[in-house]
Amino acid sequence: AIEKTFLMVKPDGVDRQVIGDIIDRFERRGFTMRGAKLMNVSRDLAEKHYAEHSERPFFGELVDFITSGPVFAMVWEGESVISLARIMIGATKPSESQPGTIRGDYAVTVSHNVIHGSDSLASAEREIGLWFGEELV
Ligand code: CMP
Repeated sequence: AIEKTFLMVKPDGVDRQVIGDIIDRFERRGFTMRGAKLMNVSRDLAEKHYAEHSERPFFGELVDFITSGPVFAMVWEGESVISLARIMIGATKPSESQPGTIRGDYAVTVSHNVIHGSDSLASAEREIGLWFGEELV
């Protein structure tokens, strides 16, 4: 099915100037960008975005990191884009992220892992609404 997903280049990815490469990967695959913005993240937005991790020991670190500098938030559309984007992003654990994936090419730590992508249809709808508003969901 044609879906939309939420992707966010994290502060480490913005800092390393890989936004262009990341956009290129999704364009080459055949997906269409429906929204994008470079922005600073408030603590409130960060805590809402990562609400499902609020009880984890690394929650504070996660919120500190995502609010530490600008992020590049995007909405992408296309066939099965939610699961295909996750495959293109690569595994969260550096020891499991394959070369050729975004994390496998750019990241060596679980916390500074360059990009976030929605993990399900429900997350995609929630995250697009949170970051871009209901009009884009
Ligand atoms: P993301 O896809 O943005 O969703 C949750 C994030 O939590 C994940 O990417 C990782 O960056 C982060 N994360 C997961 N495990 C840990 C951990 N043990 N320590 C710090 N951050 C983590």
